[in-house]
Amino acid sequence: TWTTENYIEEEIEAVKSMVGDKKVLCALSGGVDSSVAAVLIHKAIGDNLTCVFVDHGLLRKEEGDQVEEIFKNKFKMNFIRVNAKERFLGKLAGVSDPERKRKIIGEEFIRLFEEEARKLGEIDYLVQGTLYPDIIESGTETASVIKSHHNVGGLPEDMQFELIEPFKYLFKDEVRAVGTQLGLPEEVVWRQPFPGPGLAVRVLGEITEEKLHIVREADAIVREEIKKAGLDREIWQYFAVLPGIMSVGVMGDERTYAHTIGIRAITSSDAMTADWARIPFDVLERMSNRIVNEVQGVNRIVYDITSKPPSTVEWE
Ligand code: XMP
Repeated sequence: TWTTENYIEEEIEAVKSMVGDKKVLCALSGGVDSSVAAVLIHKAIGDNLTCVFVDHGLLRKEEGDQVEEIFKNKFKMNFIRVNAKERFLGKLAGVSDPERKRKIIGEEFIRLFEEEARKLGEIDYLVQGTLYPDIIESGTETASVIKSHHNVGGLPEDMQFELIEPFKYLFKDEVRAVGTQLGLPEEVVWRQPFPGPGLAVRVLGEITEEKLHIVREADAIVREEIKKAGLDREIWQYFAVLPGIMSVGVMGDERTYAHTIGIRAITSSDAMTADWARIPFDVLERMSNRIVNEVQGVNRIVYDITSKPPSTVEWE
């Protein structure tokens, strides 16, 4: 019978005998799949695993530090954090087209990862957190690309690694069970999906540090209130977007002219289709009050009540 304990034991043995003394690299995003994969492989081969975490400066509030704390300090892994905010924001300056943003971020991501891999020298294996549904999907994929998602495919020809895909036959809930068993914190195991390009596709149009700051602070409040209301496991994704709409408001006796924040929350089982979440009004009210009071530069909050289709989950 399948149990997480058996699975972990067997997988550790399999990885040990496959890898031997060779070196393994893992591109860690902080997401559920790559995080659990990293911890599992680390358990099997220890310091022969190196994790590279590219921080593109488009992460959510405190996310980069949390990832570093967990993998470097708690699990004591070989952990390289590449702080590349300046580089990404430089490349993204003046760019407002969503697909161009994705392309730039995806390419830059690969380039940085490749630079780190070359610095390390001699790497034989690459860990990928591929799940069973990913395999099925890519095998039957016929739909045209609506948004281009990226992972670590696209590395140069001369950088061929063998892949280690410990979750190739697992579903998400099984990976979560493995992560819990391995001692990963709840925030990681139950982390909501977050797009590779991060906040870049939640600041609509051109990205600036100021807009990133606003959406990041607003998003932190949305997440806090969803968690406090006990809704974090039933709502698939919940976040703030900054559409770039300025509107008139009033604060005290003063006229304001400031940003609008959109709140997006959806229920789904795979993000292929989604329904907008019926969040209780009092939770929405708390988010709204807190965002306008605590985040400078925001005077209006709207709630997105469209499903997918015809909308998409992300606004870009
Ligand atoms: P959409 O917006 O296409 O999103 O309805 C479906 C799911 O995919 C996530 N998403 C992305 N993930 N890179 C990613 O890794 C991307 O460029 C990207 N765009 C959207 C989105 O958060 C949702 O879970």
